[in-house]
Amino acid sequence: MMISIIGAGYVGLILSACFAKMGHFIRLIESDSNKVDMINSGRSPIYEPGLDGLLSDHIGKNLIATTCYNSIRESDFIFICVGTPSMPNGDTDLTMVASASRSIGEAINESKEFYAIILKSTVPPGTTENLVIRKVLKYSSTSNLGFAMNPEFLREGHAIEDFMHPDRTVIGCNDTHTGDLIESLYKSFNAPIIRTNIMEAEMIKYASNAMLATKISFSNEIGNICKRLGIDVYNVMKGVGMDHRINPHFLDAGAGFGGSCFPKDIASLIRVAEKLGYDPSLLRSVVRVNEKQPKIIIELLHNKLGDIHGKSIAVLGLAFKKDTDDIRESRAISVIRELERGGARVKAYDPLASNNACKEISGLKCYSNAKDALKDADACIIMTEWPEFSELDEEFNLMKSKVIIEGRRISSCSDVEGICW
Ligand SMILES: NC(=O)c1ccc[n+]([C@@H]2O[C@H](COP(=O)([O-])OP(=O)(O)OC[C@H]3O[C@@H](n4cnc5c(N)ncnc54)[C@H](O)[C@@H]3O)[C@@H](O)[C@H]2O)c1
Repeated sequence: MMISIIGAGYVGLILSACFAKMGHFIRLIESDSNKVDMINSGRSPIYEPGLDGLLSDHIGKNLIATTCYNSIRESDFIFICVGTPSMPNGDTDLTMVASASRSIGEAINESKEFYAIILKSTVPPGTTENLVIRKVLKYSSTSNLGFAMNPEFLREGHAIEDFMHPDRTVIGCNDTHTGDLIESLYKSFNAPIIRTNIMEAEMIKYASNAMLATKISFSNEIGNICKRLGIDVYNVMKGVGMDHRINPHFLDAGAGFGGSCFPKDIASLIRVAEKLGYDPSLLRSVVRVNEKQPKIIIELLHNKLGDIHGKSIAVLGLAFKKDTDDIRESRAISVIRELERGGARVKAYDPLASNNACKEISGLKCYSNAKDALKDADACIIMTEWPEFSELDEEFNLMKSKVIIEGRRISSCSDVEGICW
């Protein structure tokens, strides 16, 4: 099949590389020409295990990146994978979806071919019908079109594995012909395919992320209570997660959720509810607990050090989770901002995410290994569950005082105090 994919971020790149691996012919359309050049030279602009290898296997053969939309005229399928960031009030910024839809309409204008146009970006229910379809039809006289919403559930750090072996594939489509065509793309995955209407598919993605975020905030709330009781939340949640109705995933208490999806999607769902006149009190609580966790870390630090002004604090881990260089909404960034507000001097280290963190926080002092960050520090905060942090032991002796707080349960060092354990 000829497949065009719009947007070479985490989702668009993974989709392109994986569909190329399955033997399809891919045009990856990306507005940032630097990213296009990198991809065409076989290098990924983001870190994701296995992605560089897949790109170099297929680039120039059945996968080409370009800034130009013209090539989508030869496509059977057009996937929109552009970003949908949060606005300050929590609403979703749909500018990129609107712009991509317009460009698609202009590029396929007057074509006689059939195109299936599929939104993969995460959007508020109603966006495909009220924005994508309207925009494409406004800029194109072509009526031989099918539209669908096909949400993506991949996890950064496991993206290729998740894409090729999904728990389920959701195809939201209001016409059977287009839905059947999209289903044919995924039938080799051997996973259940759920067919819904377009708005239900949009809502499945929001509700899934809200459920996962809720599990995390629930565990953190239980953890905050357990710490006060002097009991181990990890033993408690192990016992809870063995109930098959609950399952053990996403029950790790800690510094809270970050990343490019949960915080913005839950904020957007809250706005959707508010506009409908409904008060989403559970979702608001999920966010409140999440915002509390970095503050608890700072409180623990104050308890141990007193005033942090002028103190040197090593922050180990900047990525929002291990196996990624993504720092979007990372709890480590919230903690660093709090530390800087309190006048502390931050010494940061992350195996992959230092460059991205330095772009986000100007003047952030990053070190090339944990040992150098720890040297002469008054305290250390572990913020990402990178496996190498579990091996740190003697290195903590380099600190001025051995105050170690962890936001993720990773260290076996006896001097460590956990955020909720
Ligand atoms: N990152 C994830 O783990 C993940 C998982 C599931 C769903 N999603 C959703 O998928 C969507 C994309 O997420 P992402 O993390 O890949 O975003 P991203 O910001 O990493 O990448 C989006 C890319 O689209 C490009 N772009 C923007 N407008 C364009 C246009 N008009 N034409 C061509 N290219 C354009 C940008 O330059 C950027 O490279 C979002 O809605 C997100 O919520 C993300």
